[in-house]
Amino acid sequence: MKTLIEPFRIKSIEHIEFTTREQRIQILETAHFNPFLIKAKDVIIDLLTDSGTGSMSSDQWADIMKGDESYAGSRSFYRFESVIRHISSMPHIFPVHQGRAAEKILFSVLGGKDKYVLSNTLFDTTRANIEYSGAEGVDLLCEEGRQIGVAAPFKGNIDIDALTKFIAVNGKERVAMVIMTVTNNSGGGQPVSMENIRNAKQICSMHNIPFFIDACRFAENCYFVKQREGGYHNKSILEIAQELFSYADGCTMSAKKDGLANIGGFLALRDEHTAEACRNLLIIMEGFPTYGGLAGRDLEAIATGLEEVMEEEYLSYRIGSMQYIGEKLDQYNIPYLKPTGGHAIYLDAKAFLPHIPVDQYPGQALNCALYIEAGIRVVEIGSLMFGKSDKSGALIPAANELVRLALPRRTYTKSHLDYVVEAIVNVYKNRQSVKGMVIKYESPYLRHFTARMELIKEATYIDALS
Ligand code: F0G
Repeated sequence: MKTLIEPFRIKSIEHIEFTTREQRIQILETAHFNPFLIKAKDVIIDLLTDSGTGSMSSDQWADIMKGDESYAGSRSFYRFESVIRHISSMPHIFPVHQGRAAEKILFSVLGGKDKYVLSNTLFDTTRANIEYSGAEGVDLLCEEGRQIGVAAPFKGNIDIDALTKFIAVNGKERVAMVIMTVTNNSGGGQPVSMENIRNAKQICSMHNIPFFIDACRFAENCYFVKQREGGYHNKSILEIAQELFSYADGCTMSAKKDGLANIGGFLALRDEHTAEACRNLLIIMEGFPTYGGLAGRDLEAIATGLEEVMEEEYLSYRIGSMQYIGEKLDQYNIPYLKPTGGHAIYLDAKAFLPHIPVDQYPGQALNCALYIEAGIRVVEIGSLMFGKSDKSGALIPAANELVRLALPRRTYTKSHLDYVVEAIVNVYKNRQSVKGMVIKYESPYLRHFTARMELIKEATYIDALS
């Protein structure tokens, strides 16, 4: 059978509140044209993030009841530890409340002034934690990863030549670590090949540089390796994951993604000395090492989630869902980052809305248009998120103006996806009427979360889109 179906039945449902276009215009105006400021109840399909927003299975809920809430030595911790150790072979495993807590601890120990942390592409919180430690984060994404419209199998790869050169020019003692983000979230949810991991590891080993993995979406990455890389077709996802982690000296993980949980994460390490320093910080910042930042029930949900996420039926449906949306968008020549990634579709707002200059935030305009059209909430990854101002106050734009539609795991059905596609197509057909925006208020850091926007001139969405 060719038809893509959900590899699950629905046992418990959550009601969606519907709104009219007029209500949504009102809601968006009250939220200053920033969907981050909209109440979740006013959203019909929430594609803001795939982080912690997925559905848990009946097995996960059952295991939650089994959670051992003992302060020290909880049974749930030993189960959590053994599942992660089986996948990663790491001796030291620390639970944390979410991915960024693992980053904070790790970079407090291995980061610091005058150091570099090299990556294919760092996620925002990873970069922020590196910078907070005094170190500098450097992205060395491969050339094809920077071409939005060009499809290539492993656009998440690090540029091996650039890595070699960076180490030669700056000195190996200044490189605190190399950390590979799999899949590469900020680079479009694109996978990293095993060959690339192996090559990067080899360079690190030559120079005695620790090699880490940001493993948030490791299972999605392993599925791409199985599909696209020679020699992996007959291997299980677990075997591929075991090989992936075998190259690493440690990893950070947000279990809110491929842990299939609503909260949680971990830091895993091989080196005893690094582990000791991290354990000491863990106790101050998160909690006793057998619970870290989590309840026993969360440890159970994550342990079961990590087992379920490697099931091939699940991954084939997950990656297939993105491809399903991509194929529909292709029928209308709608521009998006190609090929579709593991957890999200990234619309190319610059090509979608060529009449809106970058200093009028085409990504945010498209974001708002999707909300007005169908109550869909997405996130701008462009000049609102990453743009900076020069001395005269003019915008230094981001490299790309993308709009990310991240799919929560096991949460929306294929008919929800059809609804999303219809909304995108409708906005595309009426794209000439979508207007640019200006920022009326911004905070000094991470301005996209709280920015207040206004439509350019006297245009309103009432005359623009209705
Ligand atoms: N690393 C990557 C690659 C991520 O995508 C995220 C979170 C983190 C680290 C931090 O994990 O949120 O548990 O602290 N990404 C979410 C997103 C927020 O929407 O992409 P966290």
